[in-house]
Amino acid sequence: MNKNKLFIVFEGIDGCGKSTQIRKLSKYLSSLNEANVCTKEPTDGAIGVLIRNSIKEENVQFSPLTQLFLFSADRVEHANWIQRQLDARNHVLCDRFIDSTIAYQGRTKALEKAILEINSLSLNFIQPDIVFFIDVSVDIALKRIKNRVETDCFENFDFLKSVRQRYLNRIKSKALNYELINGEKSIEETFSSIKKTLLNFRR
Ligand code: TYD
Repeated sequence: MNKNKLFIVFEGIDGCGKSTQIRKLSKYLSSLNEANVCTKEPTDGAIGVLIRNSIKEENVQFSPLTQLFLFSADRVEHANWIQRQLDARNHVLCDRFIDSTIAYQGRTKALEKAILEINSLSLNFIQPDIVFFIDVSVDIALKRIKNRVETDCFENFDFLKSVRQRYLNRIKSKALNYELINGEKSIEETFSSIKKTLLNFRR
């Protein structure tokens, strides 16, 4: 098997089950003695913390355009960290990356273009090797997250429906190596699709 270190991104609407699948993939890679680190956006750095506080439903502080810049700025710092991890020969498993900004903040073609330009300036050419898009219907996603204590300002039906559509459009563009995974099955079945896809990719 090809042992190159991979930058693997997980995307999908809130409640799609990304975090569970990332934990499972990390454990699986560790069981093969393949060093890996898990990370996420918004990050735990200063800008990420500012974002998390500002998108709580009861506490929305910034306009959508400011949010676009904040998520992108958080990613500038994050990309440097990711590069260091890859240089240190760790796989990087990342919960959300540029496609989240396109799906959540890229409401118009002009905004999508701006996001791509800003990010291409700042990412030092870091590109995910593979992007798993865990697809679930908005109904299922909302059912899964309804018991969460903290909700953010994006977790409503109409907005998540448009986010899901933007993800699907982006996948069609084939800009990156996207893999569409059905996230409506059981955790184990979903993980088995991810594992199979990854093994094929590395063959
Ligand atoms: P996340 O912690 O992944 O939320 P959850 O654990 O509920 O899935 O992300 C927080 C929110 O930030 C999520 O609603 C998606 C949103 N987000 C954007 O709007 N743009 C972005 O660029 C990123 C990275 C996240």
